[in-house]
Amino acid sequence: MATILDGKTTSEKRLELLREEIKASNLHPHLATIIVGNDPASEMYVRMKHRACEKVGIGSVGIEIPPEATTQMVVNRVRALNRDGTIDGILVQLPLPKQIDTERVIGAIDPAKDVDGYHPENMGHLFLGKPRFASCTPMGIMTLLREYNIPVAGQKAVVVGRSIDVGRPMAALLLNADATVTICHSKTEDLAEELWRADILISAIGKAHFITAGMVKPGAVVIDVGINQLDGKLVGDVDFEGVKETASAITPVPGGVGPMTIATLMENTFRSAKERACDRVL
Ligand SMILES: NC(=O)c1ccc[n+]([C@@H]2O[C@H](COP(=O)([O-])OP(=O)(O)OC[C@H]3O[C@@H](n4cnc5c(N)ncnc54)[C@H](OP(=O)(O)O)[C@@H]3O)[C@@H](O)[C@H]2O)c1
Repeated sequence: MATILDGKTTSEKRLELLREEIKASNLHPHLATIIVGNDPASEMYVRMKHRACEKVGIGSVGIEIPPEATTQMVVNRVRALNRDGTIDGILVQLPLPKQIDTERVIGAIDPAKDVDGYHPENMGHLFLGKPRFASCTPMGIMTLLREYNIPVAGQKAVVVGRSIDVGRPMAALLLNADATVTICHSKTEDLAEELWRADILISAIGKAHFITAGMVKPGAVVIDVGINQLDGKLVGDVDFEGVKETASAITPVPGGVGPMTIATLMENTFRSAKERACDRVL
């Protein structure tokens, strides 16, 4: 029976430590979020991020832009936040409506305020093995593995999914931590064979219960990033009930990776505030 990697408790512990650290500093970190349109899931995620800010003592500003906005309108708002000295972190909630050029919007964020780590400059640092800001979900997963003393160096890690927010940065962080990394995606020929090799299996597909017990090597560590609806319930990519019988450790959904993502966003925002304060002194 697997150890349950409790992201909820771990994130609460880290948020409490962060709250104390922020209180003890002379800093007043601020996060700005931009949401375009009114997708209910995006609205919920942004609300959760603002609530976490409140919990730890980070000021937050929420910018809501109508769904019919143009790329230029969103870029202009990003640039205004870049110039605003009180803002330390800028988060653009993805996905953006179809008419908007996401790359241009992300590229407009000041890399020093890119607490989500999606800017090409920050992605470059990450893939060069010297991350500054890296995407919050994979960073949160690395923290969770560390908190549970799960070794990564020398392990065979298989990441399923190659998105810019999860799969790619996840693979880079695992590689930076000396894992031997395989990235799988929808064109991978023999997924079952790749999965069976994994000591650490990370699934970021977005398909309910796609990964079942027979696909996972006994004793593997299984990290489920997926958030899916099944019969009115929130479930991951992994069939938790089946896989927990043979894995050595597993994250639940909800209560696994999700809370770690938010805690990491808070940590990145405070880090940005500290670095920006140092830059002002120098
Ligand atoms: N917990 C959190 O904090 C958090 C954060 C972000 C995302 N999520 C969740 O994680 C999931 C993935 O998110 P995402 O943004 O990475 O999604 P995405 O951009 O849709 O990427 C999904 C990836 O899965 C791959 N894929 C799809 N079907 C596959 C199959 N049958 N076999 C192998 N690979 C397959 C795709 O391959 P191709 O590239 O070939 O299409 C793609 O690379 C979603 O459920 C999302 O809601 C959770």
